[in-house]
Amino acid sequence: MPLASSFVLSKKKGKEAWIEPVLDYKSKSISFNVKTGEGEPPESSKTARGAKFKCILCGNSVPSDYIKSEAQNKRMGSTLMAVVAEGKHGRIYLPPDAGQINAANVNKPDNSPTGEIGGDRRALWTPLYGLTHFSDLFTNRQLTALMAFSNLVGKAQKQAEKDAIASGMSNDPTPLSEGGTGAKAYGQAVGVYLAFVVDRLCDFSTAVSRWSISNEKVMNLFSKQAIPMTWDFPETNILGNSVGGFLSIVKYICDCILRLPLVKEKGVVKQYDAQSDNGLRNIMVSTDPPYYDNIGYADLSDFFYVWLRQSLKKTYPSLFKTMLVPKAEELIATPYRHDGSKEKARVFFETGMLQNFQQINKYTRDDIPVTIYYAFKQSETEKGEKNTQTASPGWETMLSAIIKAGFSITGTWPMRTEQSYRSVGLGTNALASSIVLVCRKRPEDSPQTTRRNFVTELKRELKSALQKLQRSNLAPVDLAQSAIGPGMGIYSRYSQVLEADGTSMSVRSALQIINQELDVYFNEQDGELDRESRFCVELYTQYAFNEIKFGDADTLARAKNTSVKPLESCHVLYAQKGVVRLLPRDEIPTSVKSHESLIWLLTQQLTHAMESGGVVACAQMIAPMFGSNAERAKDLAYRLYTIAERKGWAQEAYAYNSLVIAWPEIQSKAAELQNTKPVQHTLFDTNEE
Ligand SMILES: C[S@@+](CC[C@H](N)C(=O)[O-])C[C@H]1O[C@@H](n2cnc3c(N)ncnc32)[C@H](O)[C@@H]1O
Repeated sequence: MPLASSFVLSKKKGKEAWIEPVLDYKSKSISFNVKTGEGEPPESSKTARGAKFKCILCGNSVPSDYIKSEAQNKRMGSTLMAVVAEGKHGRIYLPPDAGQINAANVNKPDNSPTGEIGGDRRALWTPLYGLTHFSDLFTNRQLTALMAFSNLVGKAQKQAEKDAIASGMSNDPTPLSEGGTGAKAYGQAVGVYLAFVVDRLCDFSTAVSRWSISNEKVMNLFSKQAIPMTWDFPETNILGNSVGGFLSIVKYICDCILRLPLVKEKGVVKQYDAQSDNGLRNIMVSTDPPYYDNIGYADLSDFFYVWLRQSLKKTYPSLFKTMLVPKAEELIATPYRHDGSKEKARVFFETGMLQNFQQINKYTRDDIPVTIYYAFKQSETEKGEKNTQTASPGWETMLSAIIKAGFSITGTWPMRTEQSYRSVGLGTNALASSIVLVCRKRPEDSPQTTRRNFVTELKRELKSALQKLQRSNLAPVDLAQSAIGPGMGIYSRYSQVLEADGTSMSVRSALQIINQELDVYFNEQDGELDRESRFCVELYTQYAFNEIKFGDADTLARAKNTSVKPLESCHVLYAQKGVVRLLPRDEIPTSVKSHESLIWLLTQQLTHAMESGGVVACAQMIAPMFGSNAERAKDLAYRLYTIAERKGWAQEAYAYNSLVIAWPEIQSKAAELQNTKPVQHTLFDTNEE
């Protein structure tokens, strides 16, 4: 029964190709043919997410538990379904012949690197299907090839050393690990880079890699920080020139090496557990700590580590002493390392994070700030909680640990640091950003204060800080997180903030107060809007673009001193048959001219223009406008972003965020358009004396 998630090989226009299963009901067997050109690929045998399949021979659905138990009992195999070859005009697909099928039938090599795949089933899925060890993730042929390359690393290293001596490099026998700079160290460095090549080969040559039907190429396993189950997989020609081949990967690693900075000073890397004292003092610290339960680095690292170890254990015996990477000290909040207890995982993480920042406090100089990276992800927020953004356990734990360890937060810088094409959050990842927290040691004699005073200072300082951030065109996605800086800055300048009952205010409560102030700030901005737009914002906040009864809309409108009718005629609202709804921007007819003073309409039109025509379309809209209405539309987009973000309307949030971040470009394009417009000259230049 083929467990194929798809039979499609290529969906490139004009080059469509797919696998056609040939069913033999008599012998209950299936063979595979390849079809190209006109026609419809057959439906896949996968019926839903997870291990949900149906038999293409008898049509019966198969329970996923059955598939799991068959696979765990080693009754899941693989069959070659098609061969892809390089043709004169691109890829060609062929049905496999007996020779090709036999060529894949090789024995599993002895002593291939392996180890048990960790127990974090959020990210490591293959053990559910009997692929419990790292060596299970490769076909025998892949293992054979990878072993051959890995075993050659040592030989290539020796050869590089000989070549270096022959070309006049010093014959210094000091190894790389002891700071050697002669031929031995050079050979070892070449070996290290070649071991990276082997690791990347492993990433492409696995039995859980994927085939991209749009790009017709092999995709690497680690498109996200997980080892997911892949049912049908491609096996790349490791000796060929295409993606996943040895030579193309050598080139890739070379390109990376060439980008490394050439500096005279040697970098020194030492491995320490962050919770323990490493003995360093009077240094500057810039750190990127783990984010709560986000990524199981150690478990994932094992995939590469076992191969690095195979290639380099003779060069770095002490680094590769252990069969797998150390796990016990890893600072992540994964329940599976704590008998499944979320609570124990939380306590472990919190205690460890506090120890980590206490150590950092010992290491650092008083006059130099500590910078801490924090990649905030929307998915981390706890749904259903008020003020979700900043109440995520990751944020709270991190801030508590920093403050308890004796630091105050003096700034927050939003930074775009992570690659934008990570598939872990595709679609929503535009809403992820990294924040750098800037901290300084809090003087030991810092005073304490009261909740009341904290709120008063917050009111006084937050507004101007937010205005400054907003004026600097900070992306809306970053604003709430950035507001934590000035907000927590006030909280953390005191030894403690006392609640009315004399207890110490928690970071969680402080974050909630900061968020409330953020709301106040945005609500104040409402006051600058025309009353019709204020009504629209209210409607949007409560109902998005959904229908409500006319009566309810009318009440809301009256409260804002306006009415439904004029907004209907401006094409802002649909109001018929007793129901009212806001018109989504793609339903607003393009023929509707902007009412510059109806900021809601202008904002929706600009957001739509950005979605459909980008910067130029927006610039064309605002070029003829004078005054600050366009700016006010941008401000409203900011406000709508925060509403959409809180409500979890990711696409809406994305649209407003896009408009705001493109604003400087839109403005300069608009200025360009204004300048190129014909200008009516006066007969006399009145400025001329
Ligand atoms: C957010 S990542 C840093 C990523 C890094 N900036 C990069 O670009 O590759 C956090 C790192 O902390 C490491 N880590 C986790 N627990 C640790 C501990 N107890 N001591 C030292 N490092 C630890 C993880 O292995 C992981 O590499």
